[in-house]
Parts: sequence; C-alpha cells; structure tokens
Amino acid sequence: MKKIMLTGDRPTGRLHVGHYVGSLRRRVELQDTGDFDDIFIMIADAQALTDNADNPEKVRQNIIEVALDYLACGLDPEKSTLFIQSQVPELCELSFYYMNLVTVSRLQRNPTVKSEIKMRNFEASIPVGFFTYPISQAADITAFKATVVPVGEDQMPMIEQTKEIVHKFNFVYGETLVEPKILLPDNEACLRLPGTDGKAKMSKSLGNCIYLSEEPGDIKKKVFSMFTDPTHIRIEDPGKLEGNTVFTYLDAFCRPEYFPEFLPEYKDLDELKAHYQRGGLGDMKVKRFLNNVLQAELEPIRNRRKEFQKDIPAVYEILRKGSEKAEQVAAQTLKEVKVAMKIDYFSDEALIREQAEKFAGG
Ligand code: TRP
Repeated sequence: MKKIMLTGDRPTGRLHVGHYVGSLRRRVELQDTGDFDDIFIMIADAQALTDNADNPEKVRQNIIEVALDYLACGLDPEKSTLFIQSQVPELCELSFYYMNLVTVSRLQRNPTVKSEIKMRNFEASIPVGFFTYPISQAADITAFKATVVPVGEDQMPMIEQTKEIVHKFNFVYGETLVEPKILLPDNEACLRLPGTDGKAKMSKSLGNCIYLSEEPGDIKKKVFSMFTDPTHIRIEDPGKLEGNTVFTYLDAFCRPEYFPEFLPEYKDLDELKAHYQRGGLGDMKVKRFLNNVLQAELEPIRNRRKEFQKDIPAVYEILRKGSEKAEQVAAQTLKEVKVAMKIDYFSDEALIREQAEKFAGG
C-alpha cells in the first residue's frame, strides 16, 4: 500500500514553537526520509472559518503567514504538496456524504470539540459548521487516502472519528476509503509544550507564545521571563523539574551537541537536571542555556522565512499549484466514493441499459 501523509493547520495566526515540536519538525523529517509516495500539507482555512465566520479577513491574512512558516521550517514544495483547503471543493462534497454516517451524540462526545465549545463560549448556540468540523476533517484525511497523520495530541479524537467514518463507509458501501494512523510526538514535552507562563496551552490571547518568526531580542526576553519553580528562590535551594517550563523546553529542544557548544561544564541534560534538583544551580544559568538553544534552533528558520518573504507572489504560486494538484487527487477519491454510493448515474451504462429494459414495451 502507498504511504501517504496528510496534515494541516488552521490559519488563525503565525505558527509557534508548540506547533514546531508538536508536528512541524516531524513533518520535515518525514518529508526528507523520502519514504512517502505523497505528502499533503493543508492550510485549513475552511475549518478556521467554522469559528471565525465573522472574521474572514483574519483567516485571509494568516494564510500567507502559515505558508511562510511551513517553508521556513523546511517543507519543500518539490517534495510536499502545500495547498489551501477551500480551494479543493471536493472536500465539502465528501463531508456532506459522511454526515449521514455520524450521529449528533457521537459528535457531542468529542472531547476536543467539547473543550473548544467552552473556550469560545459557544455553549448557548454552537454554529453547525463548527460542530461538524470533525466530519470535514475526516474528508480532508480520506480524500487523499492518507495513511499517516502527524498531529498534536489534541487531534486524537479527530483521527478516531475519521477511522469510524472509514469503517462505516467501507462496511456500508464496500471497501473504498483508507484508514489513517495518527503519529504523535514521541516525547512528553513535545506532546504538550506549555506556554512561557507555564500555562497548559500556548495561545495568542494569553500572550505566552514564542513564534517561529520571533526576533532574537524577543526570544531572549520571553525566555528570561519564563515560569520556573517558584519555591527555588536562592541558588543553593533544591529545584523542582515538574512544571518547570524552562526544563520542559529543554526536553523539547535540546540536542546533545548544544552542551559542548554552550554549556561545556555539563555532560548532558540529565546531569544539568540532577544539579538543579540537588541545589546550587541558579535559574539564570539554565535560562541563558535555553536562550542559546532556542536561538540556535530558530535562527535558520527565521532566516529562511525572510528569504521567502522577498517573493510573496511566488509563495502564492506554490499554494496555487499545490491546490490544483490536491484537487485532482481529491476528485479521484470523490469519484470512487460516488460509485460506491451509487450516485454515479450518468457514467453507469449498465444502469441506463437496465432501466431501459425495465421500461421497454411498457
Ligand atoms: N484541526 C487541525 C488544527 O486545528 C487542522 C486540520 C484540519 C487538520 N484538517 C486536518 C489536521 C486534517 C490534520 C488532518 O490544527
């Protein structure tokens, strides 16, 4: 079977380091293995509109931001198809048919949708489009017959929902759709990178994000004001690692080679952690190290972004070409879906003959 990767992001803001360790970095690594027959990376503008219906300008402005972040991270349009969801109308058609296979109560049980409804104060009146976005996400995934979907942990319920739709569809209409596998980050810190304030999730409204395009001075400021262990007051006090954002970030970003480069008096992260827990290691020193690590990680990304920013029309052209290719693939799947669902009347000569015979001489 072909190996096909699909994933995407809602264009509601620039991407941040949480997106990077949660999925982006992995996508680029997978892309560069050359193991995949096809890779589709989608800017999910239609999904972004399900809870930003009154703010289309925000979605429109952020398409290019997300595209630049993708290219900056190393997604390569020669190897990966970058496209915009709304430019592939076949996805809407697929969603419409999948809706028949999902119950309202099943959608109501989706924990990610539940918490998003709370966050957006939608409890009293949930937009139907928003409520059903897990179904449209199943369309995104199945339209490309994706086998691997690298995403963050919060997307697990969407992949579950997709698998259920695939099973139901194949059971009712015959083997047509392909079941995807979720690919989660393999370390705890990358699974749930907290905001710089130690709060659970990075979000623009909380002002606790470090963006991929962040300038060096701002990265430094954010690192030096990061939440650590509030009981670690004097250098000689023993420090805690749990909930200590600086160490969580080191878990997510540190590579072995950064020790000889920036902190040669320690062998590795375990030794640094042990010293911190024992007491005698100050927060400032750890923050200085983390700042060096983040600067080293983000500098090449920022520089590449600046290169792509010099030719914005070329970036739109990448997306246009990608959307065209994506539409061709989705159209083929839609055709197969319609045949399976018996709604392919005009291309079914046997049907027309059969009906003609039925009415012959009548
Ligand atoms: N829900 C994803 C997010 O919020 C974006 C998305 C839309 C997606 N369709 C997808 C991710 C299909 C993976 C596969 O970031």
